[in-house]
Amino acid sequence: MDKLIIAGGKPLKGEVIISGAKNAALPIMAATLLASDNVTISNVPHLKDVTTMMELLGQLGAQLVVDEKMNVQVDANHVNELVAPYELVKTMRASILVLGPMLARFGKADVSLPGGCAIGTRPVDLHLKALKAMGADIVVKNGYIKAQCKRGRLLGKTLVFDTVTVTGTENIMMAAALAEGKTILKNAAREPEVVDLANFLIQMGAKITGAGTHTIEIDGVESLAGGSYSVMPDRIEAGTYLTAGALTRGQVTVKQVKPDNLLSMLCKFEEAGAAITLGEDWVTLDMHGARPEAVSISTAPYPAFPTDMQAQFMALNAVADGASSVTENIFENRFMHVQELQRMGAQIRLNGNTAMITGVERLTGAPVMATDLRASAGLILAGLAADGETHVERIYHVDRGYERIEEKFSMLGADIKRRSE
Ligand code: UD1
Repeated sequence: MDKLIIAGGKPLKGEVIISGAKNAALPIMAATLLASDNVTISNVPHLKDVTTMMELLGQLGAQLVVDEKMNVQVDANHVNELVAPYELVKTMRASILVLGPMLARFGKADVSLPGGCAIGTRPVDLHLKALKAMGADIVVKNGYIKAQCKRGRLLGKTLVFDTVTVTGTENIMMAAALAEGKTILKNAAREPEVVDLANFLIQMGAKITGAGTHTIEIDGVESLAGGSYSVMPDRIEAGTYLTAGALTRGQVTVKQVKPDNLLSMLCKFEEAGAAITLGEDWVTLDMHGARPEAVSISTAPYPAFPTDMQAQFMALNAVADGASSVTENIFENRFMHVQELQRMGAQIRLNGNTAMITGVERLTGAPVMATDLRASAGLILAGLAADGETHVERIYHVDRGYERIEEKFSMLGADIKRRSE
């Protein structure tokens, strides 16, 4: 198992190019199942979750060609195995994203029910409820969601999500693209990744309006064509590198980003004392050597502060000047990094879904254990700001969502290396 060894305490300085967004690439790859012609996707990040999605599409019978620049060409015309097996779904919950497209295009799908995960129970009941309302017969048996649509095509429907769900909105938007009639999704997720998926579907011939608002309308069409599409930049990766600049009192520029998607974080960085400058596709954060000030955050669906940046801001607050609170409103068990940060000297007290933090001048390096993808990012950031050596173990979690992380941090001047054991 690989670990990262970080000798912390250096201000990070420089530029980093941000990769394509994992959470946009995954639904877009799943959506290629809907296309009747070849589809080529570019700006796909080279990540474990992306290779898992490729493996899944391949198992279903899709033909994939990947070049050295990670342009992924998919031909879904030979899909013949309508099963997403437990072995793949257990390593990546986002495998659930093939359910809607398989059902809409092929009338049948058996998808392993994702289990619990490190950050909470994460049910998929809202996906299933919506697909049932659209005419699917669904039973859960032997750990699998067994779905079929006996009438052939799914039926468009007006649906209201009980909770804002990102992959739920995406799954139903994909299913509705090939359904008969109009689907109206209310209380839809407004995340930029939902908009990116909608733009991809529209480019293939889908009729979708309202993506990025609470109400998305989809007029089903009989088939979707192929084409090519470039995945949007990863706003969480960008936010993670900017946080690294903030907590090491450095100066970091992220390039090839969409600054509009980063606004909730940029406001918080300014509150922490950072000078922010931005252009069309870049953002610079400069602390001018100063210690960050503590900033309270409360996670909520987009455009509010993202839960996927909560652990990174916890690390920032751990070394900030003053006291802050971090409230997690999306997932019930997303504080696994707290105990590890405490082992590095962080002063954090938990009270339900709120963490109260009193910043310390310096953290101290320690061996710590990554428990999930974003928690790992929080621990790496803490290591970069700590005195001495931090060993972050179980970094296979990080490789699920961050491309060449040690290389990118090294380019910013960090002392970080990977060791295989
Ligand atoms: C997606 C992101 C993940 C991010 C999360 C919240 C992908 C691949 N993953 O996950 O990185 O942290 O959005 O921004 O895009 N819920 C239900 N029933 C359902 C579905 C969801 O109760 O059927 C609940 C969840 O338990 C959670 C909340 O709704 O409390 C939001 O979850 P959701 O938006 O669905 O998260 P994901 O789409 O799984």
